[in-house]
Amino acid sequence: MTNPRFCLSILVLFFSLYTHPSLAALTTLSADKKLTGDQTLVSEGGVFELGFFKPGNSSNYYIGIWYKKVTQKTIVWVANRDNHVPDKNTATLTISDSNLVLLDGSSNQVWSTNTSSPRSGSVVEAVLLNSGNLVLRDRADDNASEPSWQSFDHPTDTFLPGGKIKLDHKTKKPQYLTSWKNTEDPATGLFSLELDPEGSTSYLITRNKTEQYWTSGAWNGHIFSLVPEMRLNYIFNFSFVSNENESYFTYSLYNSSIISRLLIDVTGQIKQMTWLENAQQWNLFWTQPRKQCDVYAFCGAFGSCSEFSTMGPCNCLKGFEPKSPSDWNLGDYSGGCQRKEKLQCENSNASNRNKDGFLAIPNVVLPKGAQSVGLGNAGECESICLSICSCAAYAYDSNGCSIWVGNLLNVEQLSSDDSSGETLYLKLAASEFHHDDKSSKGTIIGVVVGVVAGIGILLAILWRRKRMVASRKAAKGSLVAYGYRDLQAATRNFSEKLGGGGFGSVFKGTLDDSSVVAVKKLESFGQREKQFQTEVRTIGTIQHVNLVRLHGFCSEGTKRLLVYEYMPNGSLDFHLFQNKNFVVLDWKTRYQIALGIARGLAYLHEKCRDCIIHCNVKPENILLDAGFCPKIADFGLAKLVGRDFSRVLATIRGTKNYLSPEWISGVPITAKADVYSYGMMLFELVSGRRNSYYELSDSEDGKFRFFPTKAANIVAQGGNVLSLLDPCLEQNADAEEVTRMATVASWCIQDDETHRPTMGQVVHILDGILDVNLPPIPTFPQVSVDY
Ligand SMILES: *[C@@H]1O[C@H](CO)[C@@H](O)[C@H](O)[C@H]1NC(C)=O
Ligand SMILES: *[C@@H]1O[C@H](CO)[C@@H](O)[C@H](O)[C@H]1NC(C)=O
Ligand SMILES: *[C@@H]1O[C@H](CO)[C@@H](O)[C@H](O)[C@H]1NC(C)=O
Ligand SMILES: *[C@@H]1O[C@H](CO)[C@@H](O)[C@H](O)[C@H]1NC(C)=O
Ligand SMILES: *[C@@H]1O[C@H](CO)[C@@H](O)[C@H](O)[C@H]1NC(C)=O
Ligand SMILES: *[C@@H]1O[C@H](CO)[C@@H](O)[C@H](O)[C@H]1NC(C)=O
Ligand SMILES: *[C@@H]1O[C@H](CO)[C@@H](O)[C@H](O)[C@H]1NC(C)=O
Ligand SMILES: *[C@@H]1O[C@H](CO)[C@@H](O)[C@H](O)[C@H]1NC(C)=O
Repeated sequence: MTNPRFCLSILVLFFSLYTHPSLAALTTLSADKKLTGDQTLVSEGGVFELGFFKPGNSSNYYIGIWYKKVTQKTIVWVANRDNHVPDKNTATLTISDSNLVLLDGSSNQVWSTNTSSPRSGSVVEAVLLNSGNLVLRDRADDNASEPSWQSFDHPTDTFLPGGKIKLDHKTKKPQYLTSWKNTEDPATGLFSLELDPEGSTSYLITRNKTEQYWTSGAWNGHIFSLVPEMRLNYIFNFSFVSNENESYFTYSLYNSSIISRLLIDVTGQIKQMTWLENAQQWNLFWTQPRKQCDVYAFCGAFGSCSEFSTMGPCNCLKGFEPKSPSDWNLGDYSGGCQRKEKLQCENSNASNRNKDGFLAIPNVVLPKGAQSVGLGNAGECESICLSICSCAAYAYDSNGCSIWVGNLLNVEQLSSDDSSGETLYLKLAASEFHHDDKSSKGTIIGVVVGVVAGIGILLAILWRRKRMVASRKAAKGSLVAYGYRDLQAATRNFSEKLGGGGFGSVFKGTLDDSSVVAVKKLESFGQREKQFQTEVRTIGTIQHVNLVRLHGFCSEGTKRLLVYEYMPNGSLDFHLFQNKNFVVLDWKTRYQIALGIARGLAYLHEKCRDCIIHCNVKPENILLDAGFCPKIADFGLAKLVGRDFSRVLATIRGTKNYLSPEWISGVPITAKADVYSYGMMLFELVSGRRNSYYELSDSEDGKFRFFPTKAANIVAQGGNVLSLLDPCLEQNADAEEVTRMATVASWCIQDDETHRPTMGQVVHILDGILDVNLPPIPTFPQVSVDY
């Protein structure tokens, strides 16, 4: 009678019934079953789950599909995106009349699959497949080729592996992948991805289904022409299908245990996100358009877009405020901004003394939709804009005036390290100019016609004079502005060439005070102007024993030269790969070089006023002084990252084998991109050869080898690290140091940038202050592909 095991099982049964009275998940939904409250429908393999959900702080309920195993609830499909229900406990999802229907508390139909009825007598049921596809099919025929309805034909904002975004050839109607309205409202938003209805095999992204702002370019059988980074993709298998009825693009994953999705975000960008199980978060793998501000009218009328601002991408122009602050706070900026103060010209009975004025907004990308009004000086442009009440702004250059009538769309504020912008003169009510607003970056322009232009010319003349006498005077801290003739003399008319590269040639020179310098002469002025400016601005103002010292520069007419301290031992690649028959860098020196470079990079990343990402770390850019102390050189591609920002967009233009995966995939990079390149270089310090090489054998053709794969495996398995060593060293090295260096290198080249150490940590590890675990083996992109 008192069998304890029996009592226990009764108790367990009772307990589970009591706590989860209705939570038993369904596997199919049919006419005799209803889904309500917290009940869910789960796919057979437990991958996806369907049920009611409430996004964020919203109080509305929707039927949605999400990943069952992903801890961060991620909705991939919404049934009733434009018709919510207020209460999940009274609403029901069921099969009625061979359709899946959602009924609210009063049994009104809120949403339906709305397909015409299949064969009479068939019994329809709904099943959620492991692909995330919800299908409606005939129970008697569960192998039916075509379900009567499937959610993959009605995507919301997410394109899952196995799904498709198609163009129907008969109706010429594209299928849309459309963003949510905002982060808390799945309603049909403004941004859509579609296959070009003209039949060009390109995908387009549009705003409000009218204004196109991105295209993938045509499909060539392997990649879309304007998405070259697809060639380096090693996770997704994209394919394009076109037949008499439809064209579409679909994809699968090479490794089916990876969780990944493509979505069109409320930011108007398409994003491929991959779930990182260890970090428990979604990782942005790829995004287009890469710049938020390239999304058409993202900040709405009179909004100003800026990349990487910590305050979010959108701000209202000065004198304006968000039209709908609540939408604005939820990341829906489409409503734009409205004037705080009415313009005088709109105000029929205002007194004449309060005339409207103009605010100069410097360094912006000018808005779209300008009207050119012919040649004119600043004063004339201003009076034209004043004379038209609906003229909102003007700008001018050597081609004359441009004015904007009506709304201003797509104003982009550039950061201070990008001076490619122009000045926009924004019309504002006179009262806006009385506020003493110190945060305003603009300069208030008087309405006195003519004076502005006069001052401009005067300034230009003064500036030109000053530059002519400045040739040998110190400029910008301790930098010297050299005259071209002086450098010509110092280098004996550029006779002793030290080296050359993509940007120009480097010559040895001796200055008047008999100090020896290296003079870099940049070729093809114009294209190199930006690199010249970047180099002077970054390395020109900082000093560190492991960073090459810039003494000064020359900027005369079209001539651009940079003057550096002279490095008698040349660059690291020469010693590692070419000079081995003469001198072999011993292990101790290599270790000190690794440590020195790490210190230099740590300084750039962590100690400067702005974080500097070098963006081109490789042996060619490491110079060695007389004592083989390493100095990082060539800052032409460097990126300054303000202290409040951590990411920066950089065009893919470093050197292929040293580029990190996230950079290749086109997302904004952090200092961790340098860490990756540094790790690649450490492997080369150990092995004494390039990381990728062909190994010839007698029996077959050459085999492609990738040293980091081999090294990471040996390190991870605790194998013989000395076998990795440059043969020229003849095993003369400290095994513990070799292990430490190869281990750090393996950590530095992890795919996930958050797993890579900072350069500061690398210094501590190489110094022996910090211990380090064995790293996981990183996976590598298809390194043999030429970019
Ligand atoms: C919900 O609202 C609170 C307070 O307004 C806010 O802190 C929180 O971030 C919101 N949650 C979401 C998911 O938006
Ligand atoms: C269902 O389809 C019919 C015609 O196919 C259409 O007229 C009707 O508006 C649709 N209803 C819903 C709720 O979409
Ligand atoms: C569906 O196909 C499987 C194998 O292909 C078969 O065993 C099964 O009998 C089929 N079911 C029906 C209802 O046709
Ligand atoms: C989108 O287009 C519709 C008409 O096609 C228009 O009524 C609506 O105002 C547009 N919305 C926005 C935000 O531009
Ligand atoms: C990629 O997808 C295509 C089409 O679905 C398939 O034929 C091919 O085998 C796949 N390739 C790999 C490597 O999985
Ligand atoms: C195109 O549609 C017709 C009619 O629905 C169908 O018979 C045919 O098999 C389809 N073709 C392809 C390639 O799917
Ligand atoms: C697929 O991914 C899983 C999880 O990331 C990993 O454990 C597995 O080794 C991968 N398989 C292949 C063949 O790469
Ligand atoms: C004109 O001024 C009067 C008195 O200041 C004011 O009541 C009226 O609204 C103004 N009219 C317009 C069109 O602004």
